[in-house]
Amino acid sequence: MKIFAHRGASGDFPENTKSAILEALKVGVDGIEVDIQSAIDNYMLIHDSWLDRTTSGQGKVSDFTAQQLSSLDAGNGEQIPTLQQLLDWNNNKTLLNIELKHAFELEKFADILISNIEKGVISKSNILVSSFDHHQIHWLKNALPWLNIGALTSSIPLNYAKFAQELNAFSVHVDKSFVNKAFVDDAIDRGLQVYAYTVDKPEDIAHMLKIGVHGIFTNYPAIAKKYLANTIT
Ligand code: G3P
Ligand code: CA
Repeated sequence: MKIFAHRGASGDFPENTKSAILEALKVGVDGIEVDIQSAIDNYMLIHDSWLDRTTSGQGKVSDFTAQQLSSLDAGNGEQIPTLQQLLDWNNNKTLLNIELKHAFELEKFADILISNIEKGVISKSNILVSSFDHHQIHWLKNALPWLNIGALTSSIPLNYAKFAQELNAFSVHVDKSFVNKAFVDDAIDRGLQVYAYTVDKPEDIAHMLKIGVHGIFTNYPAIAKKYLANTIT
């Protein structure tokens, strides 16, 4: 089962920051999940559309420039990273699951991905873009047919993972509280990977293994890795 560091190694470091990302790389995860909001002139790694919970600032991320945001403390004196900083720090070492946290204009986002691929900063196979806004990932898949997209859901629809297959998604990312074997089996039949969020407790990891989930998002990737190493023979 794959281990994705959720907002980086966010159980031990401030979420979506450089230290959380570098720690995830040190642990040797299968992927790093981050959240993206758009500022006036750049894409930033931050979960909420409001600055208040995770930074020293107040107001909406989308009302500020990246330079203005760089003066804020995102935890332990760290800055809110830009998408480009994430790509550079990762340097193609692992898969990046970039979650789009609100509806924003996607042309520039697609351009950033393409230019980084052309420069060799990241390979296509190390990019997975996900969102709860399926219209956004649908647009991206049309614009960039090679792109792997992940369809997020917190529900178990009546026709299970059909929506993700219709999106031509690579994976479906589902809330651990609701995912069950019927959903996983249906997704597998449709050729989809199933990744569950957010799975930290050993009992929950064991349950995900039992129902056949392919990967988990966890705030404690080192602990999850150790658990898997001791469980799977
Ligand atoms: O991408 C999986 C998970 O991160 C979605 O929920 O609120 O943690 O971004 P949230
Ligand atoms: Ca997320």
